[in-house]
Amino acid sequence: MKKEQVVNCQFSAWYPIFKKHTIKSLILPLPQNVIDYLLDDGTLVVSGSDQNTQPRHTDNSDSEDQEDVQWSDDETTTTVTAPEFPEFTSKVLEAINSLGGRVFPKLNWSAPRDANWIALNSSLQCCSLADIFLLFKSSDFITHDLTQPFLQCSDQDSPDPVIKYELVLRKWSELIPGGEFRCFVKENKLIAISQRDYTQYYPHILTQEEQVSQAIQDFFSQNVQYNFLDEDFVFDVYRDSQGKVWLIDLNPFGEVTDSLLFTWDELTSGGEVAQQQQEGPTFRFTTSEVTVQPSPCLSYRIPRDFVDLSAGEDAYKLIDFLKLRKNQQEDSEEEEEEGNAPP
Ligand SMILES: Nc1ncnc2c1ncn2[C@@H]1O[C@H](COP(=O)(O)OP(=O)(O)OP(=O)(O)O)[C@@H](O)[C@H]1O
Ligand SMILES: [Mg+2]
Repeated sequence: MKKEQVVNCQFSAWYPIFKKHTIKSLILPLPQNVIDYLLDDGTLVVSGSDQNTQPRHTDNSDSEDQEDVQWSDDETTTTVTAPEFPEFTSKVLEAINSLGGRVFPKLNWSAPRDANWIALNSSLQCCSLADIFLLFKSSDFITHDLTQPFLQCSDQDSPDPVIKYELVLRKWSELIPGGEFRCFVKENKLIAISQRDYTQYYPHILTQEEQVSQAIQDFFSQNVQYNFLDEDFVFDVYRDSQGKVWLIDLNPFGEVTDSLLFTWDELTSGGEVAQQQQEGPTFRFTTSEVTVQPSPCLSYRIPRDFVDLSAGEDAYKLIDFLKLRKNQQEDSEEEEEEGNAPP
């Protein structure tokens, strides 16, 4: 995989070519100060005009019985001020509204798929810039786009192409995972199709194997073949309940792209799938419950217990946690008294 192939798979490179066949989207240039904010580990505080992050002195005058809470402003109190990007914020809001109020956000290549656990709705659906920032700042996939997009390219000696970073907002669409497929194209030939959500078994794919494969092949030959900037690439599609096929994304043909139910050895030169002589592509999907696997994004999550604790969702876990802390404190106090505390 060459750096140029990665460049060609940026959203703004393929979207104009395939606009008619994909979900309506808008592309906004990402200002440098927003990129800096996304890469800054320190500030997770999300800017928003309705949030007041300044310490406040309460005024007793409007409520007699209210307790007089004084926010201390001595040296121990640090105030984190969220950065504000008024111009960018209003552009993003305008774009979100014109896409129906709910969007799926991406950068040049990646969506923050590894961070959906942090969102209140556990989804990538966003209605504001604050929603988008929360996901982007929590995502390793977004950091990868920003810091090392050419990491796995074979032409490491050539200079990195200059990238103009962009925020991609796509109209939110309820996609049923069983309708998603990833298609591998080598030398402009569709060689392989894999079920995208391969961790699950979808009986309808088994019963409609022929129709699904044929619909994707027709979509490829009519709309995709010879139209892209490269002859090797990977494209993702969605087959809706009416059997219509939509383009979802384009990805480089190489290790950065998850090969799902294939291996890259099979797909690249000399590999058995790449060399096959038969007419149609090899179609792989999960054929029974037996092979169901855990979700690949699980390793990016924090433990469920931690989430419950921090959200206060499970009162019993919180009580257990507090008891545990109390016991630990008592133990260490005893140790200190006995003079054998750890250094
Ligand atoms: N407009 C949308 N609305 C709702 N969900 C979407 C939308 N676009 C994509 N998705 C869902 O998000 C998933 C990931 O989207 P997409 O392929 O664009 O991300 P990606 O970061 O390029 O993923 P990959 O790393 O696998 O290439 C899709 O499989 C689909 O389920
Ligand atoms: Mg992709």
